Amino acid sequence: MPDQPLPVIAVLATGGTIAGAQADATSAGYKAGSFSVGDLLAAVPQLAGLADIRAEQVANVGSQNMTHDVWRALAQRVDALCADASVAGIVITHGTDTLEETAYFLSLVIRHDKPVVLVGAMRPATALGAEGPANLYNAVALARHPDARGRGPLVVMNEDVHYAREIQKIASAGINAFASPNRGRAGVMHGGAPYFYSRNTTTHTTQSEFSLALLEKSGWPRVDIVYAHANLQADVIAFIAGQADGIVLAGVGDGNATDLAVDALTRAAADGVAVVRSSRTGSGFVARDVELDDAALGFAAARDLNPQKARILLMLALCVTREPAAVQRYFDRY
Ligand code: SIN
Repeated sequence: MPDQPLPVIAVLATGGTIAGAQADATSAGYKAGSFSVGDLLAAVPQLAGLADIRAEQVANVGSQNMTHDVWRALAQRVDALCADASVAGIVITHGTDTLEETAYFLSLVIRHDKPVVLVGAMRPATALGAEGPANLYNAVALARHPDARGRGPLVVMNEDVHYAREIQKIASAGINAFASPNRGRAGVMHGGAPYFYSRNTTTHTTQSEFSLALLEKSGWPRVDIVYAHANLQADVIAFIAGQADGIVLAGVGDGNATDLAVDALTRAAADGVAVVRSSRTGSGFVARDVELDDAALGFAAARDLNPQKARILLMLALCVTREPAAVQRYFDRY
């Protein structure tokens, strides 16, 4: 009997530590985005038994330099590859610093149910014990697996599988740097196969009402994050409110801030800047009209979405509405 052809998996590379090089294999410093997608694939010859790989270099940056321009290019490529019936799944290699943001962004603007898997590494490619090759192997194995379909973009790191909305980088070093603190990881990779523990019950991809076209039409509304701390002053908020369409407060505790800051945010909201309260704590829930009277102040609450993802959802919501109650409805559903 003739061999079954291997599934086609597109690998889109964007850089990051997974493509990083050090001066020597034990040094802490390195340059992210040093190796090309061809180099990454060559380090994992086992991929030849898993998939027919089509590789593309979309960018080669440390993900601290991730931009909306790269997101646009990525979303366009993912969209085209999802529409290509010959492609079974898509893997995106990415720096870990903003990987969760790219994953969440794609989950809101890609209107397909084909597997899209993001992957990175905490150790550069030249390090002793680099985990990038194993992560990449797992990412391709996940992207070709039928169980990965319909879950929105997934992230695989250190044998854990996470949903785009839930994953968060929780440590600046170490291979166990990712978690899904509020709802838990989606599953695990074991022996090159995924085992899912939960369904993704949030709104994404095929149910999302957002798109790249909507963002382009609206000129990508500008949303900035204000990080709350003791003694936070009003002037920094007034300055940001002068430039931004929306502000996400990375608030203390339940999304709160000094009276001075809350007053400044209230003035910003009255001037038409959308304000969403979230928490800087890393997990938990910020409910509307609990810690503050959001309805009266003109704010929305991010619920269990972290500040950096609330920024993305607010940017998309602002393509449709600036009205706080309507913005809140997006945060209630996505
Ligand atoms: C980056 O995000 O590009 C640098 C850090 C990493 O990938 O781990």
